[in-house]
Amino acid sequence: DADETLQPRPPVVTIMGHVDHGKTSLLDAIRGANVVSGEAGGITQHIGAYQVALPDKSKVTFLDTPGHEAFTEMRARGANVTDIVILVVAADDGLKPQTIEAINHTKAAGVPMIVAINKIDKPEAKPQKVREELLQHEIIVEDMGGEVQDVEVSAKNGTNLDKLLEAIQLQAEILELKANPDRSAEGTVVEAKLDKGRGPLATVLVQRGTLRVGDVIVVGAASGKVRAMLNDKGQQVKEAGPSVPVEVLGLGAVPAAGDQLTVVENEARAREVAAYRQGV
Ligand code: GTP
Ligand code: NA
Ligand code: MG
Repeated sequence: DADETLQPRPPVVTIMGHVDHGKTSLLDAIRGANVVSGEAGGITQHIGAYQVALPDKSKVTFLDTPGHEAFTEMRARGANVTDIVILVVAADDGLKPQTIEAINHTKAAGVPMIVAINKIDKPEAKPQKVREELLQHEIIVEDMGGEVQDVEVSAKNGTNLDKLLEAIQLQAEILELKANPDRSAEGTVVEAKLDKGRGPLATVLVQRGTLRVGDVIVVGAASGKVRAMLNDKGQQVKEAGPSVPVEVLGLGAVPAAGDQLTVVENEARAREVAAYRQGV
């Protein structure tokens, strides 16, 4: 809609790579290094998605959840949640089957990639060999004269995390990511579960508009009214705008990763839409 008022939004970044190459360690290191001192010890992994503030106050949203299957599943269902993929490759291990899978998924999705060559603290690390292996898969990193940014990192020692964040920032600037916050919300479920006490919980990445407590929503074949929302620190929030991940309480059933959230006028309409979707 040309009349929409588009405003800049944070990039949504997904980390992919072979098993044990350090995806979780890298995420933890980034988060740990960017936790405000007052929050020390509060590195709460409350939901599988979180925002990090950069020194210039701009933000980056990281998705912790999508393993390759979830990523493929979401993509198959047309849910494009990721703006940038960080491909983690352990420098002592090189390209492995899941690395190659991740490369293929990323290419197919048309999402720009940044390569994090991890574990450079290890004596056996061979970062140049990784670059050469990438070349065989048509990933030409800057060091080899190409355009894909690559950063040598150590999640263990915290080496070059600032460079990795700079690379993300640069890539995000090129993408000129925008969304209209002043409309009813649309988003995608990145994970969901049933909580004994609180009922169905869905972690939703808001992609357009602003989601508010009290909004009537349909999420896949589930419907309900937003009773409460929690941010990545487990704090209650009243609203969530574009690129913000929130945990939503108030659904009547547990949705699936990749399900789309839409806001509708009232609960009767919500049940109608949900029933229709159940029949599809
Ligand atoms: P999966 O989620 O199981 O696929 O693994 P992952 O990619 O999330 O890797 P994870 O962060 O669990 O790290 C795997 C192992 O590598 C752990 O023993 C980490 O301590 C270790 N590791 C991660 N990053 C580094 C690093 O920079 N240097 C060294 N030396 N070890 C690392
Ligand atoms: Na692991
Ligand atoms: Mg992991």
